[in-house]
Amino acid sequence: MKRKLFLLFSLAFLYASYLWIKEEVKPDWVKYQQAFYQKKLKAMEKEYKAATTEKGKKALDKKMAALRSPKYEIKQILMKGTNTWAKQKNGDKVDRCITCHIDESVLKASHAAVSEFPLDVYGCTVCHKGNGRALIEAEAHKGMYNQRRQMQKRLVSADKVFELWLELTELSPEETDPNLTPVWGNFRYQSVTGEKSIYLGSQKCLRCHAGLTAPHAEQWKRTKFTSFERVKQAPDFIEGDENYRKQCYKCHTTGYNPSTGQYVEEGVTCEACHGPGELFSYFMDVGKAQEGQKIARVNSPYNVCFECHISRHHEMRVKFFKDRGLSDDWWFTKYSNLLVESEKISPSQGWLR
Ligand code: HEC
Ligand code: HEC
Ligand code: HEC
Ligand code: HEC
Ligand code: HEC
Ligand code: HEC
Repeated sequence: MKRKLFLLFSLAFLYASYLWIKEEVKPDWVKYQQAFYQKKLKAMEKEYKAATTEKGKKALDKKMAALRSPKYEIKQILMKGTNTWAKQKNGDKVDRCITCHIDESVLKASHAAVSEFPLDVYGCTVCHKGNGRALIEAEAHKGMYNQRRQMQKRLVSADKVFELWLELTELSPEETDPNLTPVWGNFRYQSVTGEKSIYLGSQKCLRCHAGLTAPHAEQWKRTKFTSFERVKQAPDFIEGDENYRKQCYKCHTTGYNPSTGQYVEEGVTCEACHGPGELFSYFMDVGKAQEGQKIARVNSPYNVCFECHISRHHEMRVKFFKDRGLSDDWWFTKYSNLLVESEKISPSQGWLR
């Protein structure tokens, strides 16, 4: 009797060990991959039913067979490391988040706003933090910023923002043209979520700077920078279609986004020269003006003049009038009072004093 009991206990113990080992061998992340392949398989089964040609069915058959016995494996993004930059090798940085976050279409959808950062190059932790190597959810997500609001936690100092810009730079692909080699200044218009910084509009800046830096604000008000009216009265602007007008926005508005065709403010306003205010104005707002100044200084306004003041900046206008066989009177007299108005400002009051 005793021996029988002993045998029973042994068997039970063995079975428990087997279960335990099985769990060990089949790691946590496998279930996410299983669920993903199941979902894909279901979708494909539907497709199969709808398929009309034999050929199509055969192709699907093959794919479905692969999905029925998929390979569960650790998936990772190898990133460029700081020290190996010059050697053109991947660094020791690796993010394995995609082992569980395996559905690319889901990731693509939630990252539409940061699509300029291909995830297979930049990884995940640069924006989200967390532990890129960990394969257990709780460990991987430790200290992670899961949402926009938490990413804003970086906004304690300018240095934290610079850290992010530096990391984005380090991860950026090699640029062969030495003039285009990425420097962290290239990311100075990026907010702490990786999205484009927001333009706030000059009213926001003037709330403080109309008093704080009165001469500069006054100078701006008195020039025609604020005026988009003249452009609106230009005959080619009136006659041209939206595609033609879009060409004007780049220089005559502030915060123009070519991919949406929208601008934030008419005219050349504060942020046209000082860059989008989201980050530095935030610090100025919460009484950390010094941190804001550090960020504002990264956007050296003298560097941006030549984005608009280039030679032949009105070539499209010349063409517009030429194509219609119109005289060039419009250029100097009737529709232009630039010369007349600038004479009202003495050189010592000008922008280039
Ligand atoms: C072991 C699997 C696993 C790993 C590894 C993992 N995650 Fe997750 N993650 C999940 C699961 C499961 C969810 C969904 C949890 C939920 O909805 O409660 C999730 C949710 C998230 C969310 C959304 C959280 C929210 O509040 O909506 C983010 C962001 C995220 N993960 C980022 C990461 C990043 C970045 C890494 C790598 C550092 C990572 N994950 C690694 C399994 C994992
Ligand atoms: C350039 C910055 C950036 C990178 C790189 C990045 N993310 Fe995100 N991620 C974001 C932003 C911004 C959001 C939107 C957050 C929100 O809506 O609050 C987001 C959202 C998410 C969400 C959805 C959260 C939700 O609540 O819906 C998940 C999951 C996620 N990221 C995981 C990842 C994984 C995994 C990687 C790496 C493969 C990655 N992210 C890389 C910036 C980034
Ligand atoms: C809440 C008030 C406030 C707002 C809003 C604000 N600023 Fe400031 N800003 C300050 C203060 C305070 C300083 C420090 C000025 C000083 O000490 O002379 C400053 C400094 C600056 C500087 C000088 C940086 C340097 O070189 O030291 C620039 C440029 C600037 N702000 C631009 C802007 C722009 C553009 C906006 C709008 C997007 C803006 N600010 C919004 C308060 C503000
Ligand atoms: C590459 C930058 C750039 C583009 C693009 C541009 N402009 Fe201009 N525009 C300027 C600059 C700079 C001035 C200042 C005067 C100058 O140097 O000619 C100006 C001045 C003007 C003026 C005022 C001229 C005056 O004498 O008062 C009008 C009107 C005008 N632009 C219309 C347009 C229209 C319409 C378009 C689009 C079809 C356009 N601009 C596109 C840069 C540009
Ligand atoms: C045409 C480009 C341009 C525009 C538009 C512009 N700025 Fe400036 N800003 C500059 C340049 C260049 C400097 C540095 C030279 C200087 O100090 O005059 C500067 C300097 C500053 C400074 C620091 C110097 C100071 O006077 O204390 C502040 C603050 C500032 N700008 C705020 C603003 C605000 C607010 C607006 C909008 C009302 C604005 N700027 C519009 C180009 C511009
Ligand atoms: C976003 C484009 C843009 C940037 C950046 C820009 N400008 Fe201009 N600038 C213009 C336009 C457009 C005009 C014509 C203003 C108008 O008629 O609306 C102009 C006009 C001027 C004028 C003539 C002002 C007048 O009233 O006669 C001067 C001088 C000038 N800019 C200097 C500068 C300097 C210096 C910088 C850099 C610190 C600069 N601009 C940056 C677009 C720009």
